[in-house]
Amino acid sequence: MKNNKKAAKKPWGGRFKEKTADSVEKYTESISFDQRLWKYDIEGSTAHAKMLAKQGIISKSDAEKIIKGLREIGSEIDSGKFRFSEELEDVHMNIEAALIKRIGTAGAKLHTARSRNDQVALDIRLYLRAETERIGGLIKSLGLVLMDIAEKYEGAIMPGYTHMQRAQPVLLSHHIMAYAQMFERDRQRFADALKRINMLPLGSCALAGTSLPIDRAYVAELLGFDDVTENSIDSVSDRDFALEFLSAASILMMHISRMAEELILWSSEEFLFAVLPDAFTTGSSIMPQKKNPDVCELMRGKTGRVYGNLISLLTTMKGLPLAYNRDMQEDKEPIFDTADTLRETLKILPEMLSRIEFRTDVMSVSAGAAFSTATDIAEYLVQKGVAFRTAHEITGKIVRHCIDKGCTLETMPMASYKTFSKYIDKDIYERIKPEVSVSAKVSYGSSSSASVKEQIRNLRKKII
Ligand code: ARG
Repeated sequence: MKNNKKAAKKPWGGRFKEKTADSVEKYTESISFDQRLWKYDIEGSTAHAKMLAKQGIISKSDAEKIIKGLREIGSEIDSGKFRFSEELEDVHMNIEAALIKRIGTAGAKLHTARSRNDQVALDIRLYLRAETERIGGLIKSLGLVLMDIAEKYEGAIMPGYTHMQRAQPVLLSHHIMAYAQMFERDRQRFADALKRINMLPLGSCALAGTSLPIDRAYVAELLGFDDVTENSIDSVSDRDFALEFLSAASILMMHISRMAEELILWSSEEFLFAVLPDAFTTGSSIMPQKKNPDVCELMRGKTGRVYGNLISLLTTMKGLPLAYNRDMQEDKEPIFDTADTLRETLKILPEMLSRIEFRTDVMSVSAGAAFSTATDIAEYLVQKGVAFRTAHEITGKIVRHCIDKGCTLETMPMASYKTFSKYIDKDIYERIKPEVSVSAKVSYGSSSSASVKEQIRNLRKKII
């Protein structure tokens, strides 16, 4: 008897003889983490109630009671007065039970023509839409900061690397703009994912739709969705829209992590290319001289959990038969964790970047060393009609000669140059200056200052 009474508390109580075991309640609840969806849950339920009344499925006065009740529950939650109960499993059942308690029979009509399966899909979509828009805005601010830095350091030369070996002089702004291009593609990836996030699943019910005359397009319009989903089974089964969000997030974090890694290297005594602001570094509890790039390290480190969240949801989904399975409750924590990590990272990154001092003096010395303009000698010879492979060979021999004699391309006498090629004249000394090397670049997208300016112009047009 006692058990029966307790079981009746659940919306499915009618069918059950026994009360849910406490251990099961603990194990299956999601209210501890999905309560943060409450605003979206109420927004969705309000639109649903309006539609039910418009379609004559519930009365206008019942809809009004529901909407008012939901609004009141919303302010209770907002002010921290609402008590979520584990027994009621998730945010959907907590809010519905509170509504029924508050307004009685009218509240019991809200769940007409919907199920928690489409409700949870709706809430996640609304949540992800808001997060995706917010993240898009933050990436935009990051791009703007990078462009400001590129403009501030206009003309500064640094060594460009391949294989982490000095390769050719490039403009610092070109290097910075490489990241701006990556982040712009990240912004576009989120904007593209948003197209598939912003579809209404509600009205799919448990999996098969409903015999009641609902108007899904109206709900979509009320909630600002671009369209309704086409297949009720698909609508409650898939989380690919969330996986797209997690994938875009992983790629973005990979870009952030690479930039963080470079800043860590650049701020080391070995490089001295960058000075991180004191406010964005920490000290050591034992070594008084230390200034550690912890923010950058944590950005690099947090990339791991964002990748993990993607793999977690991919793995959760991979063996699920259609349609909804409870496994899918495991989608929320990785999604929330990724959105939170991204938001926090994207807030702090531009702030830190705008305060970094780039040591252009150190960079420019380094840019001219290690035979970094050897490619310019090869291209100089090509311009005089020498085949590139031959020019490459000649230049390689010149470098070898310098290494053997202990000279540099700048200090090697003209007479020695002549022994390698009759085409080399005095103007070679000008041609191998790092700033001349950079300004000699004419190809589209190259490291010349005209090209970098054009990149900045084009990107500003795209994102403003
Ligand atoms: N808490 C559930 C989740 O997060 C909501 C959907 C539950 N549906 C069900 N039929 N048990 O996925």
